[in-house]
Formats: sequence, C-alpha cells, structure tokens
Amino acid sequence: MVSSPLRGLSVLFSLRLLSTLVLTCLAAQPFAPAAVPLAARSPYLLSFLQTTDPGPEHSQTWPTGFSRAIVGWAGLVRVDGTVYAWLGDKDTMPGAVRSVAKLNQTLTSTRTIFSLQAGPVELTATFLSPIEPGDFVKQSIPFSYMAMEAQSLDGQTHSVQVYSDISGEWVSGDRSENITWSTELHGSSIYHAVTAAVQHPYEEFGAQANWGTVYYAAQQGPGVTLKAGDSDVRSRQQFVSNGTLDNAVNQTFRAIQLEKDFPVFAYAMDFGQIQSTEAPIVWAIGQVRDSATAGAVLYQDLSGATQTRSLYYVSNYTDDGTLIDDFLNDYPAALSRAEKLDSQLLSAASALGGSDYADLISITARQAYSGTELTIGRNADGGVNTSDVMMFMKDLGFPDNGAGNPVDGLFAIFPAFVAIDPALGGFLLEPLLRFQKSTNYQNPYAAQNLGLAYPNATGLDNSHTKGLEESANMIIMTYGFAKSSRNNAQAVQYYNLLKGWANYCASQALNTSGQTSSDGLSSDGQTNLALKGIIAVKAMAGISRILNNTADATSFTTQAQDLYQQWLQQALAADGHMLLSYGAGQSSWSIGYNMFADLWLETGLLDTSIVDAQVKFVQTQISPFGIAIDSSNLTIAASHWDMFTAAVAARNASAQHALIAAVHSRASQNKQYGQFPAVFSAVDGTEITGFSRQAFLSSGVP
Ligand SMILES: *[C@@H]1O[C@H](CO)[C@@H](O)[C@H](O)[C@H]1NC(C)=O
Ligand SMILES: *[C@@H]1O[C@H](CO)[C@@H](O)[C@H](O)[C@H]1NC(C)=O
Ligand SMILES: *[C@@H]1O[C@H](CO)[C@@H](O)[C@H](O)[C@H]1NC(C)=O
Ligand SMILES: *[C@@H]1O[C@H](CO)[C@@H](O)[C@H](O)[C@H]1NC(C)=O
Ligand SMILES: *[C@@H]1O[C@H](CO)[C@@H](O)[C@H](O)[C@H]1NC(C)=O
Ligand SMILES: *[C@@H]1O[C@H](CO)[C@@H](O)[C@H](O)[C@H]1NC(C)=O
Ligand SMILES: *[C@@H]1O[C@H](CO)[C@@H](O)[C@H](O)[C@H]1NC(C)=O
Ligand SMILES: *[C@@H]1O[C@H](CO)[C@@H](O)[C@H](O)[C@H]1NC(C)=O
Ligand SMILES: *[C@@H]1O[C@H](CO)[C@@H](O)[C@H](O)[C@H]1NC(C)=O
Ligand SMILES: *[C@@H]1O[C@H](CO)[C@@H](O)[C@H](O)[C@H]1NC(C)=O
Ligand SMILES: *[C@@H]1O[C@H](CO)[C@@H](O)[C@H](O)[C@H]1NC(C)=O
Repeated sequence: MVSSPLRGLSVLFSLRLLSTLVLTCLAAQPFAPAAVPLAARSPYLLSFLQTTDPGPEHSQTWPTGFSRAIVGWAGLVRVDGTVYAWLGDKDTMPGAVRSVAKLNQTLTSTRTIFSLQAGPVELTATFLSPIEPGDFVKQSIPFSYMAMEAQSLDGQTHSVQVYSDISGEWVSGDRSENITWSTELHGSSIYHAVTAAVQHPYEEFGAQANWGTVYYAAQQGPGVTLKAGDSDVRSRQQFVSNGTLDNAVNQTFRAIQLEKDFPVFAYAMDFGQIQSTEAPIVWAIGQVRDSATAGAVLYQDLSGATQTRSLYYVSNYTDDGTLIDDFLNDYPAALSRAEKLDSQLLSAASALGGSDYADLISITARQAYSGTELTIGRNADGGVNTSDVMMFMKDLGFPDNGAGNPVDGLFAIFPAFVAIDPALGGFLLEPLLRFQKSTNYQNPYAAQNLGLAYPNATGLDNSHTKGLEESANMIIMTYGFAKSSRNNAQAVQYYNLLKGWANYCASQALNTSGQTSSDGLSSDGQTNLALKGIIAVKAMAGISRILNNTADATSFTTQAQDLYQQWLQQALAADGHMLLSYGAGQSSWSIGYNMFADLWLETGLLDTSIVDAQVKFVQTQISPFGIAIDSSNLTIAASHWDMFTAAVAARNASAQHALIAAVHSRASQNKQYGQFPAVFSAVDGTEITGFSRQAFLSSGVP
C-alpha cells in the first residue's frame, strides 16, 4: 500500500482531521483530542463526541453533527436494575440515570472504541466507520456500525439490558420539519426508517441533507425489543423502569422537535444474567439519499444539462432492506477488514513518522473519507452506468457553504487517497476534468471547484485569480494519479486540456502577477506559488512522456528548467531559504510546502541542496502548535501544509519530527471545544477557520 518511504509519508501526512489513539505500544501519553468521530461515512452521516477537558463527563454530553448542533443518539445500560448512560446527557433523561466511568478510549483509522464502567460491568462500545479500499460498493455504503459488548468486572453474573435510540435530528437540520417513520423486518434484520414528510432534494439545512431516509437498524433475535416514534422521555422511561420496550410504534407523526418532545427510534437488548456477552450486539445507522425520485448528487456541466448521480452501491442494491441486512450481517468481516487496514496504516505511519504521526492518522482517515462520496451515473431510463464513476468531495469546514471538489483542498489530501486506494484519485479528478473539456469552457486556466452549493456539483466557467494555483494543482494531481495507478487513460483523454494549463503555468509561474495563492497571497513573485507552477510544467513533461509525446516532453522539460534557473536567482535569501516573494527582505520567508510536489512526483527539478537549506531554515521557525504558512503573519498555520513540509524534511529526521510534533500538539489540545481545525494559531492553537475541514483557508471562496 505504501511503496516508497517518502511517498507514504507525504501521503499520510496530507490526511488531516480529528480524534484519539492510545497507542499502547508506542505512545507514552494518551492522545486525547477535543472531539472524536462516532459515525463518519459521508458529509451527511457525520457525528462526533466532544471530549473537551475539562468538560462535561462522558455521560453528560450529546453527540453533535458536523455543524456542532446536537444530533441525538442515546445509550443506556441497566445492570441489576440500576441504569447508566453510556451515550448522551444523563441529566436530560428520565429517572435517576447514573454516569459511567470512562476507563479507556482508543482511536484507530476506522474506529472509536470506549471502555466504560457501569457498576460491576465493563461495556465496550465500538463505533466503526469502514474504509474499504478496492471495493467501490462497500466504500460507498452510507452506513456506520455501533457494536456493544459487556463483561463482568467482579466475576459474578449480572442482569444486563442495553438500550439505544436516535432522534429525528438525524433527518434534517431544520428541527421544525415534520417527519414520518415506519419499522420493518428484512431478512434477519429490523430497522426504523425515518424521513421528512416534505422532501427537499439537493438542499442542505444547517449542513445536513434535507432529503432522504435515516435508518437505525438492529439484528432480530431473542431479547430484542423496540419502540418507535414515542417521545424521548417516555421511550427511555420505559427502559429505565422495565429493561425492555413494548414494541409499539407511535403513529402520531410530528416535528423533529416540538418544545420538549423529540420522537425517538429505539432498541433494547436483554442479555439476561451474564458474565459476558457471547457476541457483540450490532446496530447500524445510515442516511440514504438515493430514491426513485432523487439521487445523491446533482452534477451539471456547462451546457446546463444536469445528471442525477447515485452512490456506487446502487449498482448492487435495488432496495434499502437488502442493503441494511447485508451490511449488518457483514459486521464480523467488516471488523476484520478494518483491523487489517488499521494495523497497516498504524505500522506504516509509525515507521515513517513515529507515534505522533500514527496518532494523526488515527484522527484523519475517517474524516478524510467522510467528506467524499463515490458515485455512478444514471441513464435516462433510471438504470445505472458503472462505467461512469465520479467521486465528490465536499469541502467540510464551513457550515454555510460547501464547495464541491475544491481544487486546492483536494490537492492537500489527494496523495493520501492515491496511497490508500489509487483508483479514487482518477474518480476525484473526473468531475472537474469532464466539464472543462467542453468548448464552452473558455478560461485558459483551471476552475476552482464545482460550485459552492454541494450536493449540487456545478461546472462553472467564471473567471478568477487562482488560475496558476489551480492549473498547477490539476496537472500535478493528474500526473500523480497516472503514476500511482499506472492508469494513463485519464491523461490521454484530457491531454489537450492539461497541455493548455501547462502552457498557462509556463507563462504565469515566474512572475505570479495578478495570481492569488491558495493561502490568499496575491503579490508578484511569490516564491512558493511560482515554484508550484514550475513543478507543474515539469509534471506536464512527465505526462507527455508516458504518452510517448517526445516533442512535448522535451519542450516542457526545457521550459521548466529555464524557469527554475530564473526562480533560483530571485527566490532565495543569502542562507538559501525561500523568501516570501522576490526582492522581499532577507528575514521574510515562506514555508515552501510546494516543494512537496517535486518530491512526491519525482520530477527531479529541485536540487537536494536547495531542499536541505529550506528545511534547515524552517525548523528554526516552528511555534508550539505548528509553523506559520509564511512570514506575512506568524500566527497562521495550516496543518496540511505543515505536514507537506514535514514530508519535504524527509532527509532530516529531527526537523521532520519537530514539524510533526507541533501539529500533534494542536491535534491533542483538548482544552478548546470542537473538531480539529485546518487553520489555527501556531502560537496558541486557537482555531482560525475550517473545523474538521479537509480543505483550508480561502479555498473555494471566489
Ligand atoms: C485500552 O484499550 C486498548 C484497545 O482497546 C487496549 O489495548 C489497552 O490495553 C487499553 N488500555 C487500558 C489502560 O485499559
Ligand atoms: C408540521 O405540521 C404541523 C401540523 O400539521 C404544521 O402546522 C407545521 O406547519 C408543519 N411544519 C412544517 C415545517 O412544515
Ligand atoms: C413495564 O411493563 C409493564 C408490563 O410488563 C407495563 O405495565 C408498564 O407500563 C411498563 N412500564 C413502562 C414505564 O412502560
Ligand atoms: C404518541 O406520541 C404523542 C406525542 O408525544 C402522544 O401525544 C401520544 O400520547 C402518543 N401515543 C401513544 C399511544 O402513546
Ligand atoms: C451485492 O449484493 C449481493 C446480494 O445482496 C451480495 O451478496 C454481494 O456481496 C454484494 N456485492 C458487493 C460487492 O458488495
Ligand atoms: C456510461 O458512461 C460512459 C462514461 O461516461 C459513457 O461513455 C457511456 O455513454 C454511458 N452509457 C450510457 C448508456 O449512457
Ligand atoms: C441545488 O439545486 C436545487 C435545484 O435543482 C435547489 O433546489 C437546491 O436548493 C440547490 N442546493 C443548494 C445547496 O443550493
Ligand atoms: C514579469 O513581469 C515584468 C513586468 O510586467 C515583465 O517585464 C516580464 O517580462 C515578466 N516576466 C515573465 C517571465 O513573464
Ligand atoms: C508508449 O510506448 C510504449 C513502448 O512502445 C508502449 O508500450 C506504450 O503503450 C505507449 N503508450 C501510449 C500511451 O501510447
Ligand atoms: C494574523 O492573523 C490573525 C488570525 O487571522 C489575525 O487575528 C491577526 O490580526 C493577523 N495579524 C496581522 C499582523 O495581520
Ligand atoms: C538537520 O537538522 C539539525 C537540527 O535539528 C541540523 O543541525 C542539521 O544540520 C540538519 N541536517 C541537514 C542535513 O540539514
């Protein structure tokens, strides 16, 4: 999976996100970030538990959605008649519900695992959001698992019942929305299906999808009871009093929230007298937007034609009941695949960047994947077209708008996807390349994104000032994908488009006049942006070479080398570090993260001595929580560019570890509320923008 050390390191580096890992064999200090993911499988199935310290204890806080609004998910356990809350705020629950003690919290790339003590019993709650390299059907299923096991701590048997419910808050961000529900059996499964009475396809409300169906599913079997649509208080009270539910479905359909009444959808499991559970009980939560009347994403090209896109799994499943039943029955196999992937990522990350780096991977992987959706096209007759695959990435980080496939944000994370599952790289580029190949696209440079209204993914040809930045990113990513996947088809298909962008880079890179960088700089002669443009010209030579176009390969190589020589004469300070811009003072500097692209692609443009001098300098500029992007503002750090820079520092282990350690300090800073942000103060860690974002500062903002 990870072939060369530099490649693997950079790749994993560029993943960024949130959570916790106690690496027992590696880490002395438990890694305890401020928020950990629970369900994380799509931009609209994304739930966190805030674990800020000091903060409410485990039994006194509700899970929140991406936007940080509460999205109700409750868990109770009854041990010898005494009830404890293992998920959700016990103080809002009926009866004298007690707190559990949190014994342990483990994070891996795919799982958040809590060990919780409820009196004489230890509970293990595993929240698994699978990452399924190479299996497009499984990767695209918008469901997540919750598995619960119990174990006596005193050697005695105990009477144990477990309860969980979800509220309608999963259905829409608009809590006044009216919802309806039903409870169905399918195969060996049972599920509550909850949906808004009025569907608003392709609309968001409070960063939640405002259409589709939310499912909460369980396996049928002895001891399982349920209750649907009754109020949170009555449903939980019944469990508190009786340890079971009455299997009633309250048919009084109503709003997600009406004053203090929240309809909830619950299961209980009575284990009877046990010392330990023989097998975990497994629940699944999902949010499905595909239906007969709407897809998951709406793609629009420059002709204005819209295409309804479905998640890839629709190619294999025509009804949700079968999907749910298969997903639940697959838990043991899914867990074993997850353990294997987690251990591969853990050992690769530990070997490359030590335990700090392994921690960062454990908080980034699920968040990275949950921002994406793997889709297929639908034909006019409603059938699916599995040769038409596109992957979308919603720019998480801003509750009010979500750019689709923001090019500079995608660049920051692209090497990670390509390392874990190379085919995904091409699928992520495809929706951008496809609409720009049209003769309707007039700009000589690449577009910034697919609009700001995800899940509407709209091709736009508006002019903008990030032409150099985005064109270079597109060329670098296309070449990186072709190299990693050994699949040239996309490079062949879009060769002329890419060549046009390479010519644009060649004409604009050196001066950067009128060009804005992904970090919002717009001065002439920006050393870092110029370097990216020049590397892109050299990358285009690489694309030409794999297509056997020797004339173009020679021409782009010559141009890149010529530009690089001119860059060398203006970009560097006396000690060899990169100035902020040509002619700026000797004390100015840039982090120079775009050097990463040359090393990742092995374009061989940069002299080793130039890289070493830059690394030697930047390691003197590291603040407690990271290194600033450049000297224009010494507080603004971006975790992804810091990690790119750590990859650039591969030849100097101490510099590399110092860079990783600084980002790790921010990721494990759990005094500030909220998901790990993309951009924060290097000095004190304060969030600046983009919480839980895979993209970053000013990306996607026209
Ligand atoms: C925490 O949990 C992990 C894995 O679940 C386990 O390996 C470790 O021993 C536990 N640590 C403690 C202190 O219980
Ligand atoms: C929900 O239904 C109630 C009762 O029918 C109605 O008064 C209310 O306007 C509806 N709310 C919304 C958001 O449609
Ligand atoms: C508990 O179950 C009994 C019957 O088994 C029922 O009469 C009672 O209403 C239930 N309690 C609650 C709070 O639902
Ligand atoms: C169903 O829920 C509504 C709203 O909370 C409540 O008024 C009604 O009594 C419930 N019906 C039953 C049969 O419990
Ligand atoms: C497709 O669905 C069938 C029927 O449920 C199932 O057996 C099979 O494993 C699924 N294939 C994949 C790739 O998930
Ligand atoms: C399926 O998608 C491919 C790739 O976009 C396209 O070439 C083909 O025409 C599509 N097939 C149908 C039947 O629309
Ligand atoms: C997407 O487009 C539809 C119309 O096709 C519109 O109703 C919806 O509001 C748009 N979504 C967003 C997030 O702007
Ligand atoms: C850079 O800009 C200056 C001033 O506009 C111009 O004279 C020069 O030719 C430009 N150089 C390149 C390589 O475009
Ligand atoms: C390039 O040339 C090599 C060697 O002749 C050949 O194997 C390969 O298929 C060619 N590639 C393309 C894209 O034509
Ligand atoms: C640097 O950025 C921070 C965070 O955006 C801002 O508060 C501060 O004013 C900026 N400082 C300068 C000198 O521009
Ligand atoms: C690596 O960094 C150390 C300081 O951390 C420095 O002393 C050394 O010169 C650097 N080595 C190289 C090859 O740059």
